[in-house]
Amino acid sequence: MKAPGLNTNQPKTKLIEPDVERDAPKGVEWLSGESGSQTLAYMGVHDIRRPSLNVEKQRVHDFIVKPGQLNWMIEHEGEVVGSIWVDLQPTDGVDAPALHIMIGDPSARGKGIGHASTEAVLSYLQDRGHELVYSRHLVSNFAAASLLGSFNFIPDGSEYKDKDGLEWQNAKLVQKPKQT
Ligand SMILES: CC(C)(COP(=O)(O)OP(=O)(O)OC[C@H]1O[C@@H](n2cnc3c(N)ncnc32)[C@H](O)[C@@H]1OP(=O)(O)O)[C@@H](O)C(=O)NCCC(=O)NCCS
Repeated sequence: MKAPGLNTNQPKTKLIEPDVERDAPKGVEWLSGESGSQTLAYMGVHDIRRPSLNVEKQRVHDFIVKPGQLNWMIEHEGEVVGSIWVDLQPTDGVDAPALHIMIGDPSARGKGIGHASTEAVLSYLQDRGHELVYSRHLVSNFAAASLLGSFNFIPDGSEYKDKDGLEWQNAKLVQKPKQT
């Protein structure tokens, strides 16, 4: 589902609408090779196949048309470096709305881009009256745990193992309604 473009608190970082022709080649780049496998592993995806342009085109197309999910691409200094999305329906044992993020380009990590993008999406959800926001991360994913913790997400239940034996922690954030 398309969502409106959003500015972040960092002038060089914006959230923009997905575009199949622009973003599919980026997806192939991000998910290729050892660093791509590592990125997928951070996200708990271990059915790791060699990425193809057609699969990535379909993925970006689904981002645009799939109901029940808001999607943005993350642009930093004019380059698309990742994506951030919100599931509006519960999936994989996580309540909704649930926020997920991937900085696909490893060289763009650790520069505050994930923080700025998350802040913009949380603010967007808050403007729409979502006082609760959910997420989840692998217990071993310290960067994701730290990112969520910096917004005061708290553990939602105990750590648990999925059917593939991966250890997850669900998290939730209580946002106060904005003062009008
Ligand atoms: C997790 C991820 C989204 C964080 O985005 P980022 O742009 O790299 O993070 P930022 O630079 O905005 O930093 C956000 C917070 O995480 C911390 N952090 C960033 N990288 C970290 C690392 N490797 N280890 C521990 N903490 C880390 C920062 O210190 C910061 O905390 P603070 O606000 O308390 O100072 C990004 O690293 C990523 O996409 N990783 C691969 C995919 C992934 O793990 N997605 C999340 C799935 S749940």
